[in-house]
Amino acid sequence: MINIDKIRKDFPILNRTVNDKPLVYFDNAATSQTPQIVIDTIVDYYSNFNANIHRGVHTLSQESTDKYEEARIKIQKHFNAAHAYEIILTSGTTHSINMVASGFETLLQKDDEIIVSALEHHSNIVPWQMLCEKTGAILKVIPMSLDGSLQMDVYHSLVNEKTKVVFCNHVSNALGIVNPIEEIIEKAHLFGAAVLIDGAQATPHIKPDVQALNVDFYVASAHKLCGPTGVGLLYGKKEWLEKLPPYQGGGEMIDTVSFEKTTYAGLPHKFEAGTPNICGGIAFGTALDYMNAVGFENIASYEHDLLEYGTEELLKIEGLRIYGTTVEKTAVISFNVGEIHPYDIGVILDKLGIAVRTGHHCAQPIMDFYKIPGTIRASFSFYNTKEEIDVFITSLKRAVLMLS
Ligand code: ALA
Repeated sequence: MINIDKIRKDFPILNRTVNDKPLVYFDNAATSQTPQIVIDTIVDYYSNFNANIHRGVHTLSQESTDKYEEARIKIQKHFNAAHAYEIILTSGTTHSINMVASGFETLLQKDDEIIVSALEHHSNIVPWQMLCEKTGAILKVIPMSLDGSLQMDVYHSLVNEKTKVVFCNHVSNALGIVNPIEEIIEKAHLFGAAVLIDGAQATPHIKPDVQALNVDFYVASAHKLCGPTGVGLLYGKKEWLEKLPPYQGGGEMIDTVSFEKTTYAGLPHKFEAGTPNICGGIAFGTALDYMNAVGFENIASYEHDLLEYGTEELLKIEGLRIYGTTVEKTAVISFNVGEIHPYDIGVILDKLGIAVRTGHHCAQPIMDFYKIPGTIRASFSFYNTKEEIDVFITSLKRAVLMLS
C-alpha cells in the first residue's frame, strides 16, 4: 500500500507554488521528482567525500570508489544482471543507445537488417539511421495500429536471417503503451539477432529482470527513477559487451598504453572512459533503494488507479480524444481536445500551476501516423493524487472554454 501523505513529504518540490497555485506535476514521463534522501546523498557526496574514483591511493578516493561500486551492485541487483561488470554507467538512455549503435558499426555489413518499432523515441531511431548510412544496413519498421499497439504479425514476417539487431522501447514515451518485449526478444533470438530494449519509460513503473527477459541490452535513465539527471545505465550481456569495441578512448578504459599499441581494460571500464558522473551514480543507487522501499508492486497498482480515474474523467470532456488505448499501459495519457493546439492548452495549464508536456514528445513518426502536430501528455507518478487529477480536469475545462 502507498502511504501517500508520507510519500509526498519526501518530495520537497511538491510544496512549491507555480503562478501562485499549488504545483500539480504531471510531467513525470519527462523527468521524475527527487526525494529528500537522494538530495541528501548529493549534498553528502560533495560535502564529505568528493574525489575521483579508481585512481587515488588516498582515503577520499577510496571512499568515493567504494560508494560508486556499491551503487553499481545496487543497479545490478535491481535489474537482476548476472554480473556487476555487465552494468555500464552512462550519462543516460540516449548515451547508452548510441554506445550500442556505434559498436555495431564493426559487426554489420551492407544489406544486413535492423528492425525498430514505430513507437520509438527519436533517440532510438536516429542512431540506427546513422548506423545504416555508415554500414549500408537497412532499417525496417514494425508498424503500429490505431490503438497504439505494434502489429506483431508484421514483426514476425520482418525477422529473418538478415536481421542483426532489433530495437524497441519497453514502454512508449508518447503513449504509455507497454510493448510485448518478451515476444520480440524470443523471435529475434530464433535468428541470432541481438535485442536492445529501451527501458527509459518502463523502469519508473516496472522492475525488469534482464535475465528472465533474456535481453541482450537494456538501457534506462536515473532521472526518471527519482534519481539525478546525467546518469543512466547500459546493461549488456557479457558476450555482447565483449564483442563490441569501446565507444570512446581515454583514461580509465585502458589496460596499457604506448605509442605503438594500446590494450583495453576489461568490463565495465572498457566503456567508461573519462571521469564519470560519480555523485550521480551514487545518488542513482540511493534512488533505487528509495523506490524499492516504496515497492514496485505498490507503485504499479497505485498508478493504475490514477490512470483509470484520469482516463474516465478526461473522457467526460466533449471532443477529447486519447491516443494509445491498449489495456497494457503505464500511467500516461496523451490526448487532444477538438482542434485546439496542444501548446495553447499547455500554456494555460501552466498559468494554473499544472505541468504537462505538449508537442511531439520526440516521437514525430507517431504524430505523423495520427496526422496531428502533437498531443497534451499527462503522466502520473506514485506521489500524485486523485485530488490533483480533479484540479487538472477543472483547469483543463477552463482552458478549453477559453480557447473554443
Ligand atoms: N523522453 C522524455 C519524454 O518523453 C524527455 O518527455
